[in-house]
Amino acid sequence: MPSALFSPIKLRGLELANRVVLSPLCQFMAKDGTAQPWHFMNAYHYAVSGAGLIILEATGVEDVGRITPGCLGLYSDENEAALTQLIKGIRSYSNTPVGIQLSHAGRKASTRPTWELHKGNNVSIEDGGWDVTGPTTEPFGEGWPTPIYLDEQGLTRVLDSFVQSTRRAQRCGFDMIEVHVAHGYLLHQFVSPMSNKRTDKYGGSLENRMRFPLEVIAAMRAAFPAEKPIGVRITGRDFNEGGLELEDAVIFARELQKLGIDYVTPSAGNVAPGMKIPPVSPGYMVPFAERVKQDVPGMNAMAVGLIVLPEQANEIIASGKADMVAIGRAFMDDPRWAWHAATALGDTPAIPPAWNRANPKVWPAYPMVHGQSREMAEGMGHARRE
Ligand SMILES: Cc1cc2nc3c(=O)[nH]c(=O)nc-3n(C[C@H](O)[C@H](O)[C@H](O)COP(=O)(O)O)c2cc1C
Repeated sequence: MPSALFSPIKLRGLELANRVVLSPLCQFMAKDGTAQPWHFMNAYHYAVSGAGLIILEATGVEDVGRITPGCLGLYSDENEAALTQLIKGIRSYSNTPVGIQLSHAGRKASTRPTWELHKGNNVSIEDGGWDVTGPTTEPFGEGWPTPIYLDEQGLTRVLDSFVQSTRRAQRCGFDMIEVHVAHGYLLHQFVSPMSNKRTDKYGGSLENRMRFPLEVIAAMRAAFPAEKPIGVRITGRDFNEGGLELEDAVIFARELQKLGIDYVTPSAGNVAPGMKIPPVSPGYMVPFAERVKQDVPGMNAMAVGLIVLPEQANEIIASGKADMVAIGRAFMDDPRWAWHAATALGDTPAIPPAWNRANPKVWPAYPMVHGQSREMAEGMGHARRE
């Protein structure tokens, strides 16, 4: 019997060999939205990581929808050609399902990568930035640019961009799509009362604020093959007074379920300055996923946020708190995280034949290299399975 973490799960026609998912991680290394050798290197090693699914980074559906000038896009033929090559390369040696997160940064677009924030948040037009768009003309915060209001025509353009990128993702050969409705980017800007002060049918009540994201997602669902899943990264809580709360996340998840969405990943925050995030601890957002699972029967939930140890991840799945776990920084730190997790949990690590000499079964030094896992696990209150 495999552990809960390494048991398979089916999302529509897509079989995941296990519940370990590479969380989307921006690389800020693209040129004009097009994947570079860095992206190939990055995706290629995760494709042999043993994860059940890898999801590529937030990818702009139009050029002005990129978070930074270095973010991936899927709005041009060049963008599409590079990602088609990337998937083709992976398919020559791995069956690991590969998804892409489609996104629009809205009023938080045209910013700098994290390692350049000392120069300021925003990239000016002279420096290669662009005018940003938003649900209203209210900037993200002091010193941030004033967004261009998305009128009916603007909304149609954005919706159409999501649909076109969906079609491109299908042509590239992606197995699934995740829609980004979190972290303060455009679709989250619509859902949250912190950022959506519109007075038309897209603002006001939660029903109105969800309307545009739901229209976008419905149109994407109609444009993507029925056997391929679409998931949505949502907001569990804004952590701002007067912002989105878990009750809103549950209502949104119910609406997404009606559209045939296959899972939600409740994350948090970053829609407005002044976020009051409690001290973060391991698995601090797991209760969001748990609540969605409880209140929206039949909807799969992916847990994310400081899930770092195999035993911790396994407990989340085994106890029914979530159906999948998204692993971010722990995967960056250890791109073979899922091999090591499988070994720690008594499962078989998915090591490709060419690297099998590093398999713990035949490599006597393995316990010496990975021996510290027990102390770490105990320190975090999780017993290691023998
Ligand atoms: C460098 C970096 C880039 C990220 N890029 C994205 C992204 O493209 N899309 C997204 O939804 N979340 C992104 N995140 C958030 C992660 O997917 C994840 O939710 C977060 O890091 C918490 O999980 P962790 O504790 O396992 O890292 C990023 C996080 C980091 C550290």
